[in-house]
Amino acid sequence: MKEYKPVINGFKHLIHGADYNPDQWIKYDKNIINKDMRLLKLANMNSVSAGIFSWSVLEPEEGNFDFSFLDEVMDKSAKNGIKVVLATPSGARPRWLAEKYPEVLRTNEKREKNLFGERHNHCFTSPVYREKIAIINEKLAERYKNHPALGLWHVSNELSGSCHCDLCQQAFREWLKERYDNDLEKLNYEYWNGFWSHTYTSWEQIESPSPLGDTFVNPLNIDWKRFTTYQTMEFFKAETEPLKRITPDIPITTNYMRYTDCLDYFKFSELIDVASWDDYPAWQNNETDIEVAMTSAMWHDVMRGMKQKPFLLMESTPSMVNWKDIDKLKRPGMNKAVSLLAVAHGSDSVQYFQFRKSRNCSEQHHGAVVDHCGHENTRVFKEVAELGEAMQKMDDIAGSVIKSEVAFVYDWENRWALEDASYFKKDKKYNETHNKHYNEFYKRGINVDFLSYNGDFSPYKLVVLPMMYSIPEALIKKIQSYVNNGGTIVTTYASAMVNENGLAYLGGWPANELKEVFGIWNEEISCMPDGESVKVSYNGKLYNAIDYCEVIHSTGAKVCGVYEEDYFAKEPAVCVNKYGNGTAYYIAFRDNGEFLKDFYEKLINELEIKKEFNELPFGVTAAVRENEQYKYAFIHNFAMSDKTVKNDKSFINVETGEKEEKDIIIPARSCKVLKALKN
Ligand code: GLA
Ligand code: ZN
Repeated sequence: MKEYKPVINGFKHLIHGADYNPDQWIKYDKNIINKDMRLLKLANMNSVSAGIFSWSVLEPEEGNFDFSFLDEVMDKSAKNGIKVVLATPSGARPRWLAEKYPEVLRTNEKREKNLFGERHNHCFTSPVYREKIAIINEKLAERYKNHPALGLWHVSNELSGSCHCDLCQQAFREWLKERYDNDLEKLNYEYWNGFWSHTYTSWEQIESPSPLGDTFVNPLNIDWKRFTTYQTMEFFKAETEPLKRITPDIPITTNYMRYTDCLDYFKFSELIDVASWDDYPAWQNNETDIEVAMTSAMWHDVMRGMKQKPFLLMESTPSMVNWKDIDKLKRPGMNKAVSLLAVAHGSDSVQYFQFRKSRNCSEQHHGAVVDHCGHENTRVFKEVAELGEAMQKMDDIAGSVIKSEVAFVYDWENRWALEDASYFKKDKKYNETHNKHYNEFYKRGINVDFLSYNGDFSPYKLVVLPMMYSIPEALIKKIQSYVNNGGTIVTTYASAMVNENGLAYLGGWPANELKEVFGIWNEEISCMPDGESVKVSYNGKLYNAIDYCEVIHSTGAKVCGVYEEDYFAKEPAVCVNKYGNGTAYYIAFRDNGEFLKDFYEKLINELEIKKEFNELPFGVTAAVRENEQYKYAFIHNFAMSDKTVKNDKSFINVETGEKEEKDIIIPARSCKVLKALKN
C-alpha cells in the first residue's frame, strides 16, 4: 500500500466534521448558520456534510430552485476554513416528485407500490428519478464548481434495498440475458430448473424472488442481489455523470453501512474515489466492549479494503443513537477512544451524525454534537472539542498507510450464496466466523487487509478464507497458483462446494484442483444443535467442536488434529498440506475460539508475521500506520482497568510530546497515539 494524497485536494488534515442540516432550522432562525459557525470552531471541526436530505428546500416546486441556504453554508464555511462534503439529495425525494411521478416510488417484493414516506424509497430503474436527480446535481455542480469550500461529493445516502416494479422486472430480464449469453437453456442448467418443474420457456416468465412466487430458488435469489448491485451502480453512474463532468477534480464517495444485503460493496467501490461508512456499534459500558471494539475494527479494515487506501468514517454518534433496544450513551472518554480506533485502522476522518440535534421527528433524540440546550457547555460537546484538538496534532497521519502481511477474504456473493443455502444451520455465521479468526490477529496487534474474491493474494504471506462455500473456477485457479508460488492459505468447513450460481461441484469437495491443494476429500458434514459438541485433539490438547464437524479424509495432507468422539473418531479435523512451494490448512470444524487461539499462535510464529509489540495484555490492541518518515502506533485499551504494555522502542506521544519508553501505561478505555522515526 503506497502513501496517498489527502482525501480532499490540498487539505492535508485529518477531517473532523458532522452531518450538517441547517435547512431544517433556517426558516425559524435566520441566524442559525452564524451560531453554528461559532460552535463548529469551538468544537475544533474542519468539515461539514451538508445537503444530504435537502431536496424539498433546494427545489420546493418542480423546476423552481432555491440555493440560498447552501450558498450561506458554503460561503461561511469557506470563511471559517471549513470544507464542505456536499451531498446530492437523492436519499429522500420531495413530496411533489412522488405525487407527480409515482413511478419513482418503490414496489415491494409482494408487488405493492409504496406510498410516499421515509427515505431511501426510490426505484433505481425509474428514468424520471434519474432525470430529476441529474438536473439538480448538474445545478449543484455548476453552482459550486469553483467554490473554495467544496471538498468532496457525498452522493445520496446509505444506498440500499431493491425495487420490484415492472420497470425493474424488465431490467432484471435484460440483465439475465446478458449474464447468460442470451441462452435460456444455459440459465435453466445453472439454476437446475428441472427441479419442481421450474424450467423457463421464455425470458418473460422470469420474476424477481417473491413470497407470492419463488423464494427457494437459490440462484434466482443470488442473481437478484447481483442485479440489484448492478442497477444501483447504473443509477449511481447516472447520478454522478454531471459531477464527474463538471467537477472532475472533486472526489466522490457514498456512505456505506456495516453490511447491506443486495449491494456488493467491493464491486460498487469501482465507482467511488474514496470509501466512507457509518459505524454505530452497541457499546455496553462493560468488559464486552473489548469484543464490540474488535468487530468495529474489523469493519474499518473491510472498508479500507474497498479501495486499499485510507477511508472516511462518515458518520458515528458522539454519544448515543435512538434506534437500538437500549440507547446507551458513550461514557466519558469513550468517544475519543472509539473514534481513534477508526483512525488507527485507516480512517482519515471522524465525522458524526449530526452537528445540531433536530427538534422533532424520528431522530430528535439521537446523539448530536450540539444538544437541544443549544450551547457548548455539555460533556458531549467538550469531548468532541477535545478529540478535535487531539486530531489537529495528528494531521501528518492523514494519507499514511497500513502495511499487512495477512489478508482476509470477505466476499459478498459468497455470503449471499452461503446464507441462502438451505442447509447447514439456519444461521451460518459468516460474519461471526470472520470475527473469530480476525480476533487472533487483532488482539496480537497484527494488521490485516480485507479482500474480495477478486483481490490480489500475491503480496501476502497468509490468506485466510473462512467458509468459502461458493467459489468460481477462477478463484480455484488463483488459490492453486498462490499456494504453488509459496503462499499460505487457511480455510474452513463449508468451503468450495458450489460454483458462483450455487450449482454443486461434482467429484467431491473441496472442488476440482483444491482437492490436491488441500490434500483432502470432504465426504460429509455433521451439523449440531446449540449445546452439543464433539472433542477434538490437536497438539496434545483437547478442544470442543461446535456447530459443524466435517468428515474429511487425507489424500496426502498431514493430519494435525483429529476428532475424539462420534462415529468419525480418529478421522482428521485439521490438516496441513504442502503444495508446490506453499502450504494449505484445512480446519474441518468450528470452535468457540480456544482452538483458533492456539492454531494461529503457532502459525503466526512459524510465518514470522510482524507485530509491533511482543505481548499485549487482554483488552489491549495495537495498530500501526506509517508514512515515509514515521510509524504511528495506536494502542487501545478497552478493558475496564489500566493496562501496561511492555515496549523496547523509543516512542513520542503525539498528543503530549512526551517520551514513552519501557512500560507504557494505557488507562482503561482509552487510546495512546505514539510515533517513532522509521529506520
Ligand atoms: C444513518 C443515516 C443518518 C442517520 C443515522 C442515525 O447512518 O445515514 O441519516 O439516520 O443513521 O444513526
Ligand atoms: Zn423499480
